[in-house]
Amino acid sequence: MTELNAIALEGVVKEYLSHGEVVQAVKGITLDIAEGEFFSLLGPSGCGKTTTMRMIAGFEEPSKGVVRLHGQDVTNVPPNKRDVNMVFQSYALFPHMSVWDNVAFGLKQRKTPQAEIKQRVGEMLEIVDLAGREKRRPREMSGGQQQRVALARALVNRPRALLLDEPLGALDLKLRQAMQIELKRIQREVGITFVYVTHDQSEALTMSDRIAVMNDGLVEQLAGPREIYERPATAFVAGFIGTSNLLAGTASGGTLELGGGKVLVPDRDGPVTVTVRPEKITISTDKPGGDVSAVPGTVAEVVYLGTYNSYAVSLADGAEVTVFQQNAHDSTTTAERGDSVWLSWQARHSYAIGS
Ligand SMILES: Nc1ncnc2c1ncn2[C@@H]1O[C@H](COP(=O)(O)OP(=O)(O)OP(=O)(O)O)[C@@H](O)[C@H]1O
Ligand SMILES: [Mg+2]
Repeated sequence: MTELNAIALEGVVKEYLSHGEVVQAVKGITLDIAEGEFFSLLGPSGCGKTTTMRMIAGFEEPSKGVVRLHGQDVTNVPPNKRDVNMVFQSYALFPHMSVWDNVAFGLKQRKTPQAEIKQRVGEMLEIVDLAGREKRRPREMSGGQQQRVALARALVNRPRALLLDEPLGALDLKLRQAMQIELKRIQREVGITFVYVTHDQSEALTMSDRIAVMNDGLVEQLAGPREIYERPATAFVAGFIGTSNLLAGTASGGTLELGGGKVLVPDRDGPVTVTVRPEKITISTDKPGGDVSAVPGTVAEVVYLGTYNSYAVSLADGAEVTVFQQNAHDSTTTAERGDSVWLSWQARHSYAIGS
């Protein structure tokens, strides 16, 4: 299967020399991206996402390691000889050119026959839903429309892979969400590999087939959105993706005693950190029976958030646990600040994680 991967990184490292000091922007990344996959690099500012993309595109040469496109070693191949196109963090359209000319630019450069340009540009504007706006200038269009022109301009060259570096960064939330759905549709329609960079976890979860969560130049976890959310591999991933509770202690015989309660950690002995998502926890006044994790605490804060309430509950050992409870029924009795409560959840909803 390795030969068929659209993109492969093998032990890729990027070092910069900055004021006489070596800075490692990327510290050794190995990953495969399948043909036709929507693959995201997700991580906080400065973790090495753009640097990784620039090495895939060929704008940056790795200090160590190999980059392969469709099985072929392209580590030393210049960008214009690689079958990928990149849409940058700040996409720049040609302001003096019409939408049509912006999109046709690459094809004209390559002396594509006039009739073919007409057909391909028309087709692409159709796909990004901008047919009828050919004559406009970029400044006569909204941010989302300009973004779609930038996308069409890259896609019209029919690259085998498209690299998108925070392409929606400049847009407001509403437009961003609309464009996320658009992008996903466009990717399905053209069927090419998308590598997408974002520091927005909800964006990555919405769009990706798989996500590489990056931290400080390394990949901490590489998996599908559900897996990343439900089974975070490290404390960093658990904290970066959504809200998560971390409970630490020493387990004995698969049980972690915690402030007068117990957390089930099957098959674990010794020091352990356990993660549990806020929406998996149930709040009750009475101690729950059965084979569940259950810890007592005091409600410190209740925040009404429309479709759900968010509770901050203090445990006896000082830890604070966040609980989301949906406002699904009128009958839901809600706990109030100062109430003594029990928090409980199924054993399968907590995971022992690495450091
Ligand atoms: N040309 C350079 N010279 C020195 N250091 C650099 C250079 N380019 C990037 N870096 C450093 O490498 C690290 C990774 O940078 P990179 O641009 O890849 O981060 P990023 O994940 O894309 O961040 P953001 O989300 O802010 O765009 C940062 O610490 C950055 O300061
Ligand atoms: Mg960046």
